[in-house]
Amino acid sequence: MTSNILLCLNIDHIATLRQVRGGREPSILEAAQIAEEAGADGITVHLREDRRHIQDSDVEQLKPIVKGRLTLEMAATAEMFEIAQKIKPNLLTIVPEKRSELTTEGGLNVINNAEYLKDFLKKIHENGLEASLFIEPDLKTIEIAHQIGAKRIELHTGQYANTLAKTEINKLSKAAEFAHSLGFVVNAGHGLNINNLKPILQIPHLRELHIGHSIIARAVFIGLKQAISELKALI
Ligand code: PXP
Repeated sequence: MTSNILLCLNIDHIATLRQVRGGREPSILEAAQIAEEAGADGITVHLREDRRHIQDSDVEQLKPIVKGRLTLEMAATAEMFEIAQKIKPNLLTIVPEKRSELTTEGGLNVINNAEYLKDFLKKIHENGLEASLFIEPDLKTIEIAHQIGAKRIELHTGQYANTLAKTEINKLSKAAEFAHSLGFVVNAGHGLNINNLKPILQIPHLRELHIGHSIIARAVFIGLKQAISELKALI
């Protein structure tokens, strides 16, 4: 059975490989094109404050070539707002960001930053852009997100991915149900892969899944044989 859930491929780690050598390869534009040809419904990138993988020019160049949904993951800062306003991605996913983390480690603390996020969301909506808050599957957080004017959320699936616990799927399902009842569009992502995805598909009302690392990592192995054969044929 197929579902209507959209797959948005996060291509940050194509850029990670590129940054290691500081050149142009592998091209994230080519990656986006291949991903869409293969059936991805959108492309997601995280422009981090430290620019460790995705660069400003990447987001600019992706906008005209991505046919599906371009999602920009970003911290709630004035700098990122300026960039988003200029490029106008289809969706801005607001994430917490710490310089020392390897990846986004937890959801936004909406409860402690309610006033700030309320103003930030207002600016985004006034500029005709759409935003999603990346949050833990916590009912209180969802309630506050609703009160501050959020219309979309992305549920952080990291805790489930780390533990594979049925209780985490229950938490995610309850959160999705509650968010949907408040009128939210509900997305999900983080740490998902081909082995842990099935229970996620049982969560009600999911619109988009944002998946990156596992697909890029798998692509390395699926492609390694061909890459070696091509070069070996030249030797
Ligand atoms: N969603 C958000 C908000 C993220 O920050 C990330 C990681 O950049 C993902 C989804 C994708 O996570 P992963 O790379 O583990 O699939």
